[in-house]
Amino acid sequence: MFSHLLPPQDAHAPTRPDDKQRFMQLLGLALERGGVQRLLLSAPRPVASRQAPQGGQESSGAAPRAEGKDLSDEPGLERLMVRELQLRGERHLSFLWRYQTRDVTKNLALDPGLAELNRLLGPVFGHAHLDTATESVQLRFSRKGRPSLHVARRATPADAGEPPAAQSGAHNREKPRLLDLQQPFWRDLGLSHAPRGEPQLVPTMARKWKQINKFIEIFDAAVRSAGLAAPVRLADFGSGKGYLTFAMHDYLRQQGLAPQVHGVELREDMVTLCNAVARTHGLQGLVFEQGDVRERGDMRLDVMVALHACDIATDYAMHFGLRSGARIIMCAPCCHKQIRPQMRTPAALRPLLQHGIHLGQEAEMVTDSLRALLLELCGYETQVIEFIALEHTSKNKMVLAVRRAQDPTPARRAELLAQLDEIKRFYGLREQALESLLRAEGRLAP
Ligand SMILES: C[S@@+](CC[C@H](N)C(=O)[O-])C[C@H]1O[C@@H](n2cnc3c(N)ncnc32)[C@H](O)[C@@H]1O
Repeated sequence: MFSHLLPPQDAHAPTRPDDKQRFMQLLGLALERGGVQRLLLSAPRPVASRQAPQGGQESSGAAPRAEGKDLSDEPGLERLMVRELQLRGERHLSFLWRYQTRDVTKNLALDPGLAELNRLLGPVFGHAHLDTATESVQLRFSRKGRPSLHVARRATPADAGEPPAAQSGAHNREKPRLLDLQQPFWRDLGLSHAPRGEPQLVPTMARKWKQINKFIEIFDAAVRSAGLAAPVRLADFGSGKGYLTFAMHDYLRQQGLAPQVHGVELREDMVTLCNAVARTHGLQGLVFEQGDVRERGDMRLDVMVALHACDIATDYAMHFGLRSGARIIMCAPCCHKQIRPQMRTPAALRPLLQHGIHLGQEAEMVTDSLRALLLELCGYETQVIEFIALEHTSKNKMVLAVRRAQDPTPARRAELLAQLDEIKRFYGLREQALESLLRAEGRLAP
């Protein structure tokens, strides 16, 4: 809790801070302690009905301008998201102005940033929401501009049985989420609901939300390392109900990368649902199609992703990514059924692999290692990582591949091919789907 740090309200004091000033004090405290997880200003007032701020609340900072205009006066304004960031070693506030059809980002040094928030609260935005790790603070303005503050305790990781996050220090702060639960399409997809007006996560969807946030966090780093530029063409194979697909589209849109996103899914009902949600919310460049990844005709891609595509659908998706020239291939595989029945247990490993659970884990490890070797052979820098803690999904492994500038040297290629053969011989494996697809194309010829 940090709201207890505010001095108590003194009913007899000649001037008492109003709720807006208390909100600004709380924000200052939260920033001081590195605890702002989310700051969102919403409910913009129509420009014509805006009143000048009341006495004592003038902003000392100049309004941020794009092409000479006050960003708060621009048409189609929906909300403003603010987060702290360091620029050239100085604390700044980053303002993400969201309009119906575009986003504009402006960064201000901390003090002018706070002054700007003070200017906007009330006259421009009727609602502000500040989340810290422990408290949720809401400031609302009545139609007459009267502020009212509400502070509620938030469920902490400890409430949810999770280990506590590191408490302080800029390096230890929990990363701000790249996805915004306030986006209205999450509601139509069943991820959020609004029992008290403000969108909240549907409790049963908490694990899925965590998974896609982690996926996006890793994707963000991969996009930077691959240096992708607009427009970014992306396919999500086995897109299911589209959670990851919408997340990817939203992330790329926010980054100004003009996404062209395709979800490919076997089930017609899911495709119909996802297309309807994308249309309802006017999401340009987001399309779902019914189809089988094993048969999908070629298309050019920058990114191929698949989250829990069943069994060898992951291999077909990876192969598609390779064929389509994707710079980033990101797959969190699902079940690993192909390798396990083929595996002969080497004598030395019999005491380990006599246990079914170990055999399953070994089959998974061998499958994903072969996939990683094959991707490296095709010219990708490849990692197998745990993308999320095991308690959020048992399918928590990811194969991440980013295209290198150059193919492996002939010596490295020979080494990788030899490793591939050695692993197959060791476990007596006859077939691995991605390998077979690449061999059929002659891509594994020595
Ligand atoms: C476990 S779900 C994952 C859905 C989604 N990616 C997610 O994480 O929420 C796997 C999805 O892959 C689809 N699928 C399985 N095999 C497929 C194939 N060969 N081509 C296209 N989609 C496939 C299934 O219909 C299912 O919706």
